[in-house]
Amino acid sequence: MSSDATRDLEAWIPRLIAVWRARRAARSKGPRQPQRGRPPFQDEPTTRLSPNEVKEVAAGIKRLSHGLTRERELAGAKYMDDPALLGAYLLFYWPVSYAQSRSLLSELPARPRSLLDLGSGPGPLAFAGLDAGASETVAADRSKPALELARALAIEASEALATREWSPERALPDGTFDVITMGHLLNELYAGDLGKRAALVEKVLEKVKPGGSLVVMEPALRDTSRALLQVRDALVAKGYAVRAPCLFRGACPALVKPSDWCHAERQWRMPALTESLARAAGLHKESLKMSYLVLAPKGEAWAEPPSGRVFRIVSEALEGKGRQRYMGCGPEGRIGLALQEKHRSEGNAKFFFLQRGEVIRVGGVAEEKGDGAGLTDQSTVDVIARAGQPLPKPS
Ligand SMILES: C[S@@+](CC[C@H](N)C(=O)[O-])C[C@H]1O[C@@H](n2cnc3c(N)ncnc32)[C@H](O)[C@@H]1O
Repeated sequence: MSSDATRDLEAWIPRLIAVWRARRAARSKGPRQPQRGRPPFQDEPTTRLSPNEVKEVAAGIKRLSHGLTRERELAGAKYMDDPALLGAYLLFYWPVSYAQSRSLLSELPARPRSLLDLGSGPGPLAFAGLDAGASETVAADRSKPALELARALAIEASEALATREWSPERALPDGTFDVITMGHLLNELYAGDLGKRAALVEKVLEKVKPGGSLVVMEPALRDTSRALLQVRDALVAKGYAVRAPCLFRGACPALVKPSDWCHAERQWRMPALTESLARAAGLHKESLKMSYLVLAPKGEAWAEPPSGRVFRIVSEALEGKGRQRYMGCGPEGRIGLALQEKHRSEGNAKFFFLQRGEVIRVGGVAEEKGDGAGLTDQSTVDVIARAGQPLPKPS
């Protein structure tokens, strides 16, 4: 994540805590009474929670995590209407979604001016859009309490945010937008009916301005990621272009084997609040993991890929005996790329330090093997886009 985005996220932490504390106080016993000898709220730190607060929020995070990632019994349920779960979402998942979204917005070919955030919850993607330069942003969700929180955050941050109650059976908000985001929403819709999800995505794309993008972000779980890839394939088969992350224009090769899937991973500076809550809830958020798709509106062509033999790295480093290996996915498909330690040279040394999401150009000799391409000491490896950066235009 960029240093700007890191700084912006840090600025959100006291706002999240202030809004959470105000809601909680209003719920429990009306306006808080000052304690004897203690001016109200004065000794409450604004950037971290007290041990009791951490305990309380961690209980909600555990319920959310279990319900949205393990058993998934909360997916599709109205959990945002439960104050404890909404509070846990606000303090723990909000910063994660914000950071994920900033890293995806930075990959777009153009900065959005207008943005619609569908399934916004309390608005992490909407605010990420505002911080990334959008001036008109609408957050839409079916949960009134989540939208109320988004409005409270907007007041806290002196940002102009419009909110709309929306669910897929209702009309989309008026107007067209440079960017529409759907953050961790699709997997909660239509009880897994992928045809209906693809139809919704197509309808949403009608509201994207020419040259704009629809950003769909999903949890990096195997099932939710594969479901997103299937929606991708349905749209690609209808002629829609993927702006990111795909360089391959055919049916997604990660769907061939049921055990495969494709997800992104980004590095970030975890806020201290996230760190303390993750520890208390027994979760890990050292890096940001998500699956995503950036789609172009109907009739727009795929971008020309950068020249040469290019691949996006779509796995972590798969170290083997005396060699380094990754899965790469490029215009020619998804293949294994390997380099033996004994073939390390000045031109290919970068291969040993690649990160998931980076786009590389492989030059020189690469021997085709059964399981992919074997780089040689004559091969060259150049990183042409870091994870989260737009691709360079072909020269
Ligand atoms: C996991 S939260 C994601 C919130 C935010 N976009 C993010 O990425 O952090 C999913 C959101 O989708 C909303 N949602 C789920 N089903 C919905 C539906 N049928 N109509 C509208 N919103 C829905 C929920 O209310 C919730 O706010």
